[in-house]
Amino acid sequence: MDVIEVEGGYPIQGTITVEGAKNSALKLMAATIMAPGVTTLTNVPNIADVHVMGKVLKALGAKIDVLDEHTLAIDTSAVDKWETPYSLVSQMRASTAVMGPLISRFGKAIVAMPGGCNIGARKIDMHILGLEALGVHFEIDHGNIHATTPDGLTGSTVLLNFASVGATENLMMASVFAKGTTVIDNAAREPEIVDLANMLNEMGACIKGAGSPLIEIEGVSKLHPVTHRVVGDRIEAGTFAAIGAIAGGPVTVKGFDPVHLGLVLKKFDQMGIDITYEEDGITVSRTADLMPVDIQTLPFPGFPTDMQAQTMALLALAKGSCVVTENVFENRFMFASEIQRMGANITIEGHHAIVRGVPAYSGAEVQASDLRAGAALVIAGLVADGTTVVSNIHHIDRGYEKFVEKLQSLGAVARRTTRPDEDVFAD
Ligand code: EPZ
Repeated sequence: MDVIEVEGGYPIQGTITVEGAKNSALKLMAATIMAPGVTTLTNVPNIADVHVMGKVLKALGAKIDVLDEHTLAIDTSAVDKWETPYSLVSQMRASTAVMGPLISRFGKAIVAMPGGCNIGARKIDMHILGLEALGVHFEIDHGNIHATTPDGLTGSTVLLNFASVGATENLMMASVFAKGTTVIDNAAREPEIVDLANMLNEMGACIKGAGSPLIEIEGVSKLHPVTHRVVGDRIEAGTFAAIGAIAGGPVTVKGFDPVHLGLVLKKFDQMGIDITYEEDGITVSRTADLMPVDIQTLPFPGFPTDMQAQTMALLALAKGSCVVTENVFENRFMFASEIQRMGANITIEGHHAIVRGVPAYSGAEVQASDLRAGAALVIAGLVADGTTVVSNIHHIDRGYEKFVEKLQSLGAVARRTTRPDEDVFAD
């Protein structure tokens, strides 16, 4: 079992460049199904989830050339299957992002029902309701979703109950070839949605309004392959901003658009963290005490749920108390429970966490529950008294490329080690 060991108390400073966004790259890869031929994606993060999505595409008949560590040439000419295996969907629920593209290309799709995960039920009812409005018929059979379009795809107006990222993406991709116009109202506005819409338009789609709550898609007849650069990962950037903030920095984070972290950086400023803006990034440092601020996670441009744990790691050391409210996922306070092992004082009441600042963390053995919680535990370890050992770091590997190497380049005393799996029956 691999673990990350961190010695607390060392100065953390330097510059890192973030990779392309995981939550864009996965959908861009799925979208290549809609443009038979070779689409080249650059700035692709070399992370476990991208490898799984590559397996999904290959299972459908695609060929993938890894031109370099961050460049994939994806040939979808020979894609001739429309069923995704449960073994892969169960590894990564984002595999459901191929549903829209498969329906667009074949008029049908068989996708394993994604299970839940540590942070919530992760339902896809909004995906299904929206696609039904476009003429898709669904049957659930033995854990698989069978989608068919007996009368083809016809544009329609879909009002989402919640600005769901995945539902917005699947609807956008399923409506590219639909007859007429599709309107997605209450659409998600995340930068990754904009990146996907940009690539689809480069391929020949006609999508307006991405990044706003109202997206309009005019059906076209076909798409052609392109070369597209994945947008910088704002959440990886926010994670390293939190690292500079907790340890004092200065840490310069490059390779992303600071506008994509607007509210996070505003809250960091209110917490007493110094942020300067550069060409394609920011420099983060702190000399003053951390001050408490209340956080409510919401769809973009609200405070991102994917920065909740990393920010809580800061707030738990603030001079005072605050409330963190998680409005996006129903079970995303696992970090809050785990960080208590390091001395944090956090009380969870439903989807609120009352955070009472403590003077310091003490190093401990802790477990990652999802990739952001895992990163947040390492962040806490950087300033803890003694050694922190984070296990279940496969969660971190899903979304952070070379996480330990990047920490080491900033001066952290951190290492990845392998522990023999415990022989539970050993006497
Ligand atoms: C994407 O998940 C991201 N994952 C998540 O990042 C991110 O936290 C989330 O968007 C919100 O920003 C990828 O892009 C691969 P949602 P997604 O649909 O699309 C409920 C990370 O750490 N819901 O906006 O699944 C859902 O259960 C990951 O990188 C329904 O009830 O998010 C959740 O509570 C974690 N029915 C909420 O809405 C539906 O049909 C938001 O989900 C769809 C969603």
